[in-house]
Amino acid sequence: MKHTDIFEIFSNPEFKGAEVTVCGWVRTSRDSKNMAFIELNDGTSFRHLQIVLDKANFSDVSPFLKLGSSLKVVGTVVDSAVAADSVEINAKVISVLGSCPPDYPLQKKRHTLEYLRTMPHLRVRTNTFNAVLRVRSVVSAAVHEFFQARRFVYVHTPLITASDCEGAGEMFQVTTIGYSNEYQTAEDYYAGDFFGKRAALSVSGQLEGEVAAMAMGKIYTFGPSFRAEKSNTPRHVAEFWHVEPEVAFAELPDIIEIAEDLIKYIIRTVLERCPDEMKFFDERVEKGLIEKLQSVVSHDFAVMTYTEAVERLQASGESFQYPVEWGCDLMTEHERYIAEVICQKPVFLTDYPKEIKSFYMKQNPDGKTVAATDLLVPGVGEIIGCSEREADLDKLLAAMKKRGMSLDEYEHYIALRRFGTVPHSGFGLGLERMIMYVTGMANIRDVILYPRTVGSIS
Ligand code: 4AD
Ligand code: MG
Repeated sequence: MKHTDIFEIFSNPEFKGAEVTVCGWVRTSRDSKNMAFIELNDGTSFRHLQIVLDKANFSDVSPFLKLGSSLKVVGTVVDSAVAADSVEINAKVISVLGSCPPDYPLQKKRHTLEYLRTMPHLRVRTNTFNAVLRVRSVVSAAVHEFFQARRFVYVHTPLITASDCEGAGEMFQVTTIGYSNEYQTAEDYYAGDFFGKRAALSVSGQLEGEVAAMAMGKIYTFGPSFRAEKSNTPRHVAEFWHVEPEVAFAELPDIIEIAEDLIKYIIRTVLERCPDEMKFFDERVEKGLIEKLQSVVSHDFAVMTYTEAVERLQASGESFQYPVEWGCDLMTEHERYIAEVICQKPVFLTDYPKEIKSFYMKQNPDGKTVAATDLLVPGVGEIIGCSEREADLDKLLAAMKKRGMSLDEYEHYIALRRFGTVPHSGFGLGLERMIMYVTGMANIRDVILYPRTVGSIS
């Protein structure tokens, strides 16, 4: 259907005075004595385009004014009567592409985000989701630009795997058998299954990412990861998008530098390319958001050891729901206190106790901690999990044995330490948590088209 994107109408002054065809959905409409007004949105722009109808030119305007209906409008682009620096359309011919009945659930009043979650197929038509999805798209493009410009190779790691990267046992099993009485033991069952062994959806592309990095030097993966965590929180989804670079010849400080540069590049890109969306988030979702993000990109992130953070939390006098002592896994309340109160900016927390972290992390000379870091940001908490990898064969084997892991199942991973091992590091950035941070949206369910969470799939 030949038509012009609404974005073009707003951004290209050449259209002024010209006759154009635009398409879109009616977001709001208003009827007065001689005139009627429609706010049309086609998804190419956050802003709606005003369509002005001189009722003398139409026998009946009412079919055009129904919320949610889709229209094709032919008319002339003119200066906006109310907004300086903007344009509107004087309509000549309007056709209804798809009408919409009055029980359309998105009526004019503002709906709560909770209510909108009950209709993921329609909430995309609200300003909030229009802005979220556009920012999400720009963030995704920025991720690729950042790595491609630095000659990282984009690799596609498998989503179906036989190994558990995080060793947390939070994996969705992949099976073609399902319920059956036929098998007496788990071994029998898996032997009869599609792959002849137990398979699951990957929680991370890291293990295969390391394989690729040991040839390509600098790689990244960017795809879905799956976690069967029964965490019903505003920060957990069962299916999330995961950005995972892996870098050969990089030690912890090198990878921290890349992580900080990436976060800043993403923020700068969004501020530059999504001004309308960011203004909306700043006004409606988190007051002061733009100023906060501008400050984030113009200052260094903090770096603090886990040990210091624990001491500072203990000395804070704050009464936390979960007590803090050296060796404990930090909870969201602790992470947020560190980022929001102690550092008041993003902070790389480093050198965690080895017992609470994954088997693959480089063991520090102190024998107690690993060269790992989480990036904690105000408002969200952890958005990046990062570490230098254990490159020493014996130390890696010892860590795996201590955890009772099957060395056979990780043979490829172990072999990397046998054949030309090098210091290397990588991290995982949760895309949805990054979107939460840049938009100020407080619930992860509201930054993804279809959230999958424990007990809920629609
Ligand atoms: O800290 P995590 O578990 O680290 C890893 O998976 C490493 N293998 C990554 C690597 O080094 N290549 O997860 C990394 C990030 C978290 O910081 C968080 O942002 C996101 O992935 N994440 C989730 N996001 C939403 N819902 C969940 N259930 C998430 N689990 C992890
Ligand atoms: Mg983590």
